[in-house]
Order: sequence, then structure tokens, then C-alpha cells
Amino acid sequence: MAEASAPVRGFADAGADLSLVNVSKRFPGFTAVDDLSLEIPAGSFFALLGPSGCGKTTTLRLVAGLEEPTAGSILIGGKDVTLAKSHQRPVNTVFQSYALFPHMSIMENVAFGLRRRRIDNADTLAREALDLVELAHLAHRKPSQLSGGQQQRVALARAVVNRPALLLLDEPLGALDLKLRRQMQLELKEIQSEVGLTFLHVTHDQEEAMTMADTVAVMNQGRIEQMGAPVELYELPKTAFVATFLGQSNLFTGKVGNSTSDTMTISAAGVGITVPLSRAHVHRGTVTVGIRPEKVALHRHKPADGNRTVLGPGRVLDASFSGVSTQYLVAVPGYADVTVFSQNTSESDSARNGDEVYVSWSPDHAFGLSDHPVGDSGKFAADTDTGSLAVAERERLEAELEES
Ligand SMILES: Nc1ncnc2c1ncn2[C@@H]1O[C@H](COP(=O)(O)OP(=O)(O)O)[C@@H](O)[C@H]1O
Ligand SMILES: [Mg+2]
Repeated sequence: MAEASAPVRGFADAGADLSLVNVSKRFPGFTAVDDLSLEIPAGSFFALLGPSGCGKTTTLRLVAGLEEPTAGSILIGGKDVTLAKSHQRPVNTVFQSYALFPHMSIMENVAFGLRRRRIDNADTLAREALDLVELAHLAHRKPSQLSGGQQQRVALARAVVNRPALLLLDEPLGALDLKLRRQMQLELKEIQSEVGLTFLHVTHDQEEAMTMADTVAVMNQGRIEQMGAPVELYELPKTAFVATFLGQSNLFTGKVGNSTSDTMTISAAGVGITVPLSRAHVHRGTVTVGIRPEKVALHRHKPADGNRTVLGPGRVLDASFSGVSTQYLVAVPGYADVTVFSQNTSESDSARNGDEVYVSWSPDHAFGLSDHPVGDSGKFAADTDTGSLAVAERERLEAELEES
């Protein structure tokens, strides 16, 4: 945001660390959050990524104080808030649906929380927040006169204006179409670095998490499977779930045969698949080794390079051209189908359905997992349950408004 310099300076320094220490939340007969521990440094953008039902919203509700943990503690800025009431915590939440007050102007929507707390310069602060999201020129409009993306920015301004130390975002872009969503991801990231708040962003969209966050925690069934910088998780996934949820992976399971001082080779369907020991979590027994599709090259003839892992001959089951790249699905006898992403500038050969091909990769790009794939973990439904929370919150505030 180009010109949002001076007026927003007051937002900086507001961020605070968040620590969850062995937090669990059990509902009757069901554990939604299971012994979760994480540290979010002040001023960072942290994404909690996982499929619908894995416990993301419950985690946010615990941090916001809308839910009490069954075990463990929650610290904000070093202060234990486990038993603090929701309104005593320096936290604001932005939900998937914006739930703006329809009868109020944009300005009134943003200033509402401040006026409610009888803050003197509510209008000045609200205008600064609207500047930040570049909507000051629409301050007099009603929410219905704004696009979805603009309404989402108002919701963000409404949360940021309270200068929370910690902003919780629960699938805040879920209701937007794909193009707007990608644009808002960049804007939100920019706003976050500008205001210096700590963002805890929850999403089931892996691209969204990777684009926006400094640190991503991949959550599955109430637990964090792996946490780290996006590139770290992508290049060295630890579990089959992470390897397939965060991008695609070709996975091969076999027994460890030969090992050297820095590599090991598993034998899968008679072919040796080598992985550096430093890139493998388990070094003996049965191991699953993975390779990302863009690291795999396709060949019309058997490649001679003895340093590469080569599979084949196989047959092209599907070739789908998408402009910048072509995605191949290759059936190799003895293996699951191998996926290859081939950039159109690459040295890979091109091929058509039914062609006989070989696939190869450099062992340096392979990774060894700590577990094995179970069933199909590739597809997840969208998360839609936050809309009702946002509406409930709006209704609560409206009731309060009528009383005063
Ligand atoms: N109040 C509740 N009582 C019982 N089960 C709940 C309650 N709230 C959430 N759950 C369950 O906990 C699991 C995690 O829910 P949630 O945190 O909303 O997941 P996510 O946001 O990742 O989709 C779900 O299976 C959900 O049905
Ligand atoms: Mg949710």
C-alpha cells in the first residue's frame, strides 16, 4: 500500500508473541485439539493449514477465549491468559464472512468498536484504518455498495482499528473467488508487514498458506504434523500427509538395502531408489521415499546418466498441456503412476498419450518420510463453518447496540 505511511505508525509495536503449551480440547467422545504446542514470534505471519475438521477453528477459539482448553496453557506476550475472558485478551478475529452491519456506513462499521469503548478519536483512528486498506474514499457507502473483496478489507480494517496485539484470521478469504483471493492474499500480507501485528491465519488452502506465511504449521486430526518455513516444508516434508497435502509427491515404499556414509537406497519393485541420509527421517527397515513431480524428467530413450534414478520403460497415461508446463501421468510397471511436471523450456522430452517413456531424477531431490501413505489423503472439502460464527458475533453486537 503505497501512501499508507505516516498515519498507520501507531499500529506498529503492537504485536505480541503467542505460545500454546500442550493445549488439548476434548468434546464428549472427541478430541478436536490434541496436545498442541506452538510459538508464534511477535510480528510474524503464521498459518495453520489443514483439512476441514482438523481442529483449526477450535484452536482459534481457544486463543480468542471463546473456548476453554481441557489441558495446557495459552500465553500472549508472555502473560498467561488461559483463564482470561475473551474481552480481556488483546485479540481480534476476522471471519470468513465479513458480517458487516448492513445499515451502517463503512466508516461507522469500522469505528463501531471504538465508539462502543468510548474512545475519543474514534473517527480519526477509523479513517487511518480505512486508509490502510485503501478504502477511505468509500467511507460513506453502505456495505451492500461494495464488492466482496472490498467488504473483506472493511472487515480487516474493523479488526485492525482496535490495535489488537494478535489478529486471528479464520479463512478470511474463503468467500472470495479465486482471482480476488490471490490479490487479497498479497494485500493482506503487505498490510501485515506494514502494521507489524502478529497474524495467526487459518486456512485449508495450501497455496494461500505458502504465499502468505513466514511459518506454516500443517495440522491433521488435532495435531501438528510439521511446522516450518514454506520452502522447508515443501522441500523436506516429514510425513506422507504433509508430502501430499502441501503440493503433490510421488511416493515409493521399500526396504533399505545398500547404505553408504551419506546415502541409502531402498529397493522398490527391483529398482534402487537412493536418498541422502540427511534428507531422510528413518534410516532402516521399510521406508517411503518421495520425489516432487517438477524434479522428475521425462525421456523418450533410456537416459545414460548413471547418477540419476531411472524408472521405466513406462507408458504415458495422460499428458495435459497447460501453457507454461505439461503434466504427465506415467504408468511404470511395479509402481504407482508417476506424475511429472515438465516446464516447456525444460530439457525433458515431450511425449503423447501411449508413448513409451522413462522418468528420472537426481537423488539429491528425493526425501525420506517418517511414515507411510495411508489411503487417499489428497482431496479435502472447503471449510464453511465460520460463516455462522461471524453472524452470531454480529447478532450479539447488534443486540448490545439496541440496549445502549
Ligand atoms: N462444540 C463442539 N462439540 C463437539 N464437537 C465439536 C465442537 N466444535 C468442534 N467440534 C468438532 O471438532 C472438530 C474440529 O472442528 P474445527 O476446529 O471447527 O475444524 P476446522 O476449523 O479445522 O475445520 C470437528 O470434527 C468438529 O465437529
Ligand atoms: Mg474452521
